[in-house]
Amino acid sequence: MVAREETPILAMIGITKVYPNGLVANSKVDFQVQRGEIHALVGENGAGKTTLMKVLFGLEKADEGDIFIRGQKVKISSPHDAIRHGVGMVHQHFMLAPSLTVAENIVLGAEPRRGLWFDRKKAEEISRSLSEEYGLHVDVRAPIKDVPVGVKQKVEILKALLRGSDILVLDEPTAVLTPQETGELFLALKALKEKGHTIIFISHKLREVKELSDRVTVMRGGRVVGTRKTAEISSEEISRMMVGRDVELRISRPTAASGKAKKVVLLAKNLQKYSRDGKEVLKKVSLQVRSGEILGIAGVEGNGQVELVEVLCGLSPADGGQVFIAGKDATGKSPGDIRNMGVSHIPQDRMIYGVAAEASIEENLVSTRYRTSPVSRGISLDLKAIRQISRHLIERFTIKATSPSQSVSTLSGGNIQKVVVAREFSTNPQVIIADQPTRGIDVGATEAIHRYLVEATEKGAAVLLVSADLAEVMGLSNRLCVMYEGEIVAFFPEASEVTEEELGLYMLGLKRQDPREIEAAMMGEAESRPASEAETGEG
Ligand SMILES: Nc1ncnc2c1ncn2[C@@H]1O[C@H](COP(=O)(O)OP(=O)(O)OP(=O)(O)O)[C@@H](O)[C@H]1O
Ligand SMILES: [Mg+2]
Repeated sequence: MVAREETPILAMIGITKVYPNGLVANSKVDFQVQRGEIHALVGENGAGKTTLMKVLFGLEKADEGDIFIRGQKVKISSPHDAIRHGVGMVHQHFMLAPSLTVAENIVLGAEPRRGLWFDRKKAEEISRSLSEEYGLHVDVRAPIKDVPVGVKQKVEILKALLRGSDILVLDEPTAVLTPQETGELFLALKALKEKGHTIIFISHKLREVKELSDRVTVMRGGRVVGTRKTAEISSEEISRMMVGRDVELRISRPTAASGKAKKVVLLAKNLQKYSRDGKEVLKKVSLQVRSGEILGIAGVEGNGQVELVEVLCGLSPADGGQVFIAGKDATGKSPGDIRNMGVSHIPQDRMIYGVAAEASIEENLVSTRYRTSPVSRGISLDLKAIRQISRHLIERFTIKATSPSQSVSTLSGGNIQKVVVAREFSTNPQVIIADQPTRGIDVGATEAIHRYLVEATEKGAAVLLVSADLAEVMGLSNRLCVMYEGEIVAFFPEASEVTEEELGLYMLGLKRQDPREIEAAMMGEAESRPASEAETGEG
């Protein structure tokens, strides 16, 4: 007998998974996790991480291989089986019931009853004590639809814990969190580890992997490249293992020419927008982006960024205010007209706005230029030209696909994003509106996307970058603002001079700048009139 300490709590041995279209997503994967460790699983987009975890959670069936939990061979053919063996999974897209409260969601499927009736008080008690026990603080009575995404995630974790999960899988849990929420999550995960829980953590952010994990397993092309102690490997080495080459992890912003010399290409004035239920979601937002620069918008999701981008791209009309593109009025124009004015859009929700999922990669790649040569030849399409353009883009943007005719719906999350990015960058836009352009994107592709954005500005494009990833928005932007509750609450003319902590305070609404100062500084009047003077002068 092997000593108990050495038996891994989880061993997946020789796992092979071939999808119905013939794609080998996992090939003879060996993956072993020790009890009580935080184990990071990393790899490029499409490397097979999510697939491996879906096999573990009973969402996909492996073609070959065995799973051992606590030394016992187990058969997992459904999430129910997985939960029975103590495996819990927090998906990236939360699966909570929005109209129910936090407590109701936590106990869902295992509701306490009194007689025939749901026992609300008991549900709240259970949830409260669980939340205290694990230091995952939530208001158990709040409806899920009203809580921020960080809380939703805690609810998912509590749900899994209530069901007795001691192996917890988190697939890219921090992609949507603020730095403060990420910090809280990490504390909670470390506390869980102290209590003897085992955590498998998928992330593209190597800084987090370094900070949190005890060991790291790297996957590449459906195989495991290796498992290492995190303390004994640098971020550079991890990315080399992932990509097979050196990756530039440092983000460098464009060297923007002095602001005044460059012309304003994107101008928004006093944009207002009301949601369907009458809430003011954009409160007179004004901004300008100049040729050759990146203006970043930081903020917790749901503070008007989506609405702002929709208005700028013509996807939804503003209820007030104006938009100008290169000096021409674009207010109220259709998405097609705005595109023709030279605006590219990398949407945050690729599955809804970004791609036609059932269509092929090549159809998606050329979908915005059906009316222009060389794709269009009179009234027909030049299929040979399309194939040629597609092959070129697939190669240039390293889209991992079997053929240009493959359906986009069968690509991994990151590769779908690359299809959108390839299409949007390939038309030499004047303005690029990039909404979370690298969310869920691996280090290699992120490096490439950052480089394309910088190159586009060097060719004179104006980039509006909306990102919840602070390292990205701070590292890449020349100028930076923060949105909170539909307003721009802070503006920094030099993004390089701001700290993460300070931005976090504005993002959470704990701090704000004087609106008049913001307007003056943003719209370029600040150069002739120091902000402090403006304040005392009018106060
Ligand atoms: N339902 C499916 N049908 C066919 N192929 C699929 C399906 N789901 C995933 N794939 C393919 O399997 C491979 C592995 O995908 P998986 O989602 O496991 O990657 P990943 O490592 O999680 O990537 P990402 O970092 O982008 O999330 C990819 O090439 C993907 O295109
Ligand atoms: Mg994945």
